[in-house]
This record gives sequence, C-alpha cells and structure tokens, in this order.
Amino acid sequence: MKIIGTGSAHPTCAVTNQMLEQFLDTSDEWITERTGIKERCVISSEKLEDMAVIAANQALENAGLTAADIDFIICSNVVNEYVTPALSCIIQGKIGATCPTVDINAACAGFIFAMDMAEDKLKCKKAKNILIVCAEEPSRMVSWQNRSTCVLFGDGAGAAVVTEGDELKAIRLTTSSLTEVLYYQRSLEPTPYISKEENFEPLVMKGREVFKHAVTNSCRDIRKLLNETGLDANDIKYYVLHQANRRIIDSIRNFLGVDEEKVPHNVERYGNISSAALPALLDELNRGGKLKKGDKLVFSAFGAGFTTGACVIEWAKE
Ligand code: COA
Repeated sequence: MKIIGTGSAHPTCAVTNQMLEQFLDTSDEWITERTGIKERCVISSEKLEDMAVIAANQALENAGLTAADIDFIICSNVVNEYVTPALSCIIQGKIGATCPTVDINAACAGFIFAMDMAEDKLKCKKAKNILIVCAEEPSRMVSWQNRSTCVLFGDGAGAAVVTEGDELKAIRLTTSSLTEVLYYQRSLEPTPYISKEENFEPLVMKGREVFKHAVTNSCRDIRKLLNETGLDANDIKYYVLHQANRRIIDSIRNFLGVDEEKVPHNVERYGNISSAALPALLDELNRGGKLKKGDKLVFSAFGAGFTTGACVIEWAKE
C-alpha cells in the first residue's frame, strides 16, 4: 500500500482559550501549560459531512484521481448526527462515488485501523484505490460545562487516498478493554420493555490514566515497529503522532530520544480532533512541501477502548 493523496478541513469557528475563560472556571495559562492547546475549531453552522467531503475531494485531487476511480471508502467516525446511515454513505453520494463503503470506530486510532483494512483489501485485490476519510466532532460528545474535557477537543476531517504499493513497511494494532477510562454514553429511545436503569453521560475521562496509557503504549508500539523494520529512531523523518496533548507528544519524543524537529504538531491550533488528527497533520506536511519521496514516517495514535495503532511508511509522492 502507498499513500498518493491527502486532504483536510476544519470548521470556521475558532474557539480560543480566552473565549473559554468567559464561561468556564479556567484560564489560558492552565490550558496552555497542561495541554499546549491555544485554540480549537468547533462545528457551528457547518455539518461534519461538509468537512468530510472537502477533505475527501482534496485528497482525490492531490492523488490525481476522481471519485469514479475509488473502489472502496472507509470512514473513521465516533459520532455524527446520524447513527444510520453510516457517514461513509453520505460522503459517497456527495463526492459522486459509486463504490461500497463502511464506517469504523476505533476512536482516535481510527486512521491506522482504516489503513490496516485498506492494506488487506489491496492485498487480496478486492480494490485498487481506497479513500480513507476520518471525520470527527468530539465537541458534540463533551459537556461544555465540564472544564476537564471540553477544553481538549476540536472538530475536523482528514483524508487519504491509498493504492497498491509496498510503502507500508509495518503496522501494529492493539485493543485492551479499558472501557472505564474514556467513554461517552449516548441516549437510546425508550421502549415499553426497558426497566433497567440506564445512564447517559457526556464524555467521561480519567485524564491521568489516559495520559499514562497513551505514552506507554505509543512508545511500545513505535519501538516494536522500529525493531521489526530494522530502523533506528533517527532514520525516521517525521513521527506523525496523535494530537491529543502537547505534553503527551513531548513525553513520547523524550522517551524515544528524538529531536524536536522530527515531531511536528498542530494540537495548539486544533485541539484533539480524534481520528482526523493524524491525516490532517499529514496533509499539512504534504501541502507544506515537507515530505520527500523515500522519507520514512512513523504514525502512532491511541484512543478510547483503549485502542492503539502505529505504522511505518515510506512517502511515495514526488
Ligand atoms: N482549567 C482549570 N483547571 C482545571 C481544568 C481546566 N480546564 N481542568 C481540570 N482542572 C483542574 C482539576 O479540577 C483539578 O483541580 P483539583 O486539584 O482542585 O481537583 C486540577 O486541575 C488537576 O486536574 P488533573 O486532571 O489532575 O490535571 P492533569 O495535570 O492530569 O491534566 C489533562 C489534565 C486532561 C490535561 C491530562 O490529564 C491529560 O492530558 N490527559 C490525557 C487526555 C487525553 O489525551 N485524552 C484523549 C485521549 S484520545
């Protein structure tokens, strides 16, 4: 598999830490020091599907393909306004594709899980070109009265087109059922037969535990992949890490012992946009001319579940 196109889109409403100070007991100083986040883009008048479609069309254009060339669409999404149909069906119609589609939910690690699925489809020749779209609106999962969670997240979409190639050098996925450290319970319709008590809660997060799992698991995944591919940490041009918190990113970098310029970040501008973070950052690097053919990249992400995904790829575009 190789990546041949990327795209991204962010909502227009940028919410600064100072704007949050106006209705939450928080401060720019606290948020900046603990998370590195200065602002996040949050959905207001637009719909998540609009972001997804912009990112998808950009990725197609960057790949030099049209929607007709796509054989399969994988959309990574945790929440959007529809439970059904899947967001990938909406995207398919809006970009004018006709191929089958599926949604997956591996939380913030969704992009790597989607890459793994895409690689399998390509290997068994069930598809030639696959569009991966990660579109997320965690701002609709948190309580905006809870300063511990709402300051951390933003909304957005990132996309990539992948095709046959041998530039995916190694990939690793994990799931450990730690469902109590990070969850969001959405309400269901009542029925005449439900007598058990049901709880519906906005996003609940045990921040310190998530922090520890994130750093430990990401470092473990990356080390295993470097070992498997025989690469040294410094052979990697960029570590494209999940953008949840600047302190998590810095801790992973310190444990791996790599220089700061190898670990790009944009969490300060977008907050945590869940699975869209990784392809959106990749798109920024691609469009900013930072990637050269042959560059080795590591991707690593973690999320609710607890899920983790990491891979080593070689950049294929000129
Ligand atoms: N503004 C001001 N104070 C805040 C605050 C905010 N936005 N959010 C929490 N606090 C307070 C807490 O209420 C607590 O106060 P107390 O000591 O009086 O009880 C204090 O700050 C410390 O809270 P704590 O949760 O221990 O802080 P922390 O140093 O662990 O930082 C996180 C909190 C969430 C930033 C940090 O744990 C983290 O980044 N975890 C990982 C989150 C993550 O990546 N999630 C997504 C995974 S995909």
